[in-house]
Amino acid sequence: PGALAQPGRRILLAAPRGYCAGVDRAVDAVEKALAHYGAPIYVRKEIVHNKFVVETLTERGAIFVDETDEVPVGARVVFSAHGVSPAVHAQAAARDLSTIDATCPLVTKVHKEAVRFAGEDFDILLIGHDGHEEVEGTQGEAPEHIQVVNSPDEVDRVVVRDPEKVIWLSQTTLSVDETMETVRRLRERFPALQDPPSDDICYATQNRQVAVKRLAPGTDVVIVVGSANSSNSVRLVEVALESGAGAAYRVDTAAEIDPAWVDGAMTVGVTSGASVPEILVRDVITRLGELGIGEVEEVRTATEDIMFSLPKNLRADLKRAG
Ligand code: F3S
Repeated sequence: PGALAQPGRRILLAAPRGYCAGVDRAVDAVEKALAHYGAPIYVRKEIVHNKFVVETLTERGAIFVDETDEVPVGARVVFSAHGVSPAVHAQAAARDLSTIDATCPLVTKVHKEAVRFAGEDFDILLIGHDGHEEVEGTQGEAPEHIQVVNSPDEVDRVVVRDPEKVIWLSQTTLSVDETMETVRRLRERFPALQDPPSDDICYATQNRQVAVKRLAPGTDVVIVVGSANSSNSVRLVEVALESGAGAAYRVDTAAEIDPAWVDGAMTVGVTSGASVPEILVRDVITRLGELGIGEVEEVRTATEDIMFSLPKNLRADLKRAG
């Protein structure tokens, strides 16, 4: 309960924002598994990188673990949207686990590219962030053929066996502009560098960045809802700043908004990462309303209608149960 909305002060709300098809499917898979098989359902790693989602599913009976050896022999485990390496599948099989693979189909696509080009004996330069789960999963498909390139600055350190046989692939949730800069520098060194057969940075990542680019220039501050370990959310903060936002902050929830950020601000941009439920954005808008910024205008740059069906074996079990 605070100031009345002050005329002229407004929120620009990015669209698209929030849940992508891969996150929607992964969260749905855990919910449906809980409803169908009953608790507990084990989940390897955070199903998606969002604190609120993980807490909510934990309350409903999901048990999050770091590795499959923490799952009791014979139990059921869901693999997260970020994907897993073949070694993790093998570990799960060795423990006789029932697995539900919620890897986003667009991540699986990159895995298949890695397998294919490793099979053709290419050196694969995987642009992405070392230590991120998706990168670990993809690299695990062909560790002896893949090296990770974190940023344009690392290009000079890359060593390949045959400069005529090099391809780049990427994590799905990177900054499009920074990735293109890395590719440009790689190509200076390796003119024969091949592009991936199709875009690895996914439609959702691209669309959310385009929307922020459009709204950022006129804003005093942009607030990005998303967790600190969410790659695509962190990228949105960077893109907002590069695109002319006066300032940009990432928050997990409305409670983290410091009123000083919007003190005197006339235009506040709001968006959310691909793993963020809309309710958290609603809370942010309510909070900004309390701080005197009540008018909301949507800035839409694309409409998304892509959807992925549930993992096959879960779908089959649900169908059998009618
Ligand atoms: Fe998939 Fe892209 Fe979402 S890779 S999980 S659609 S952010």
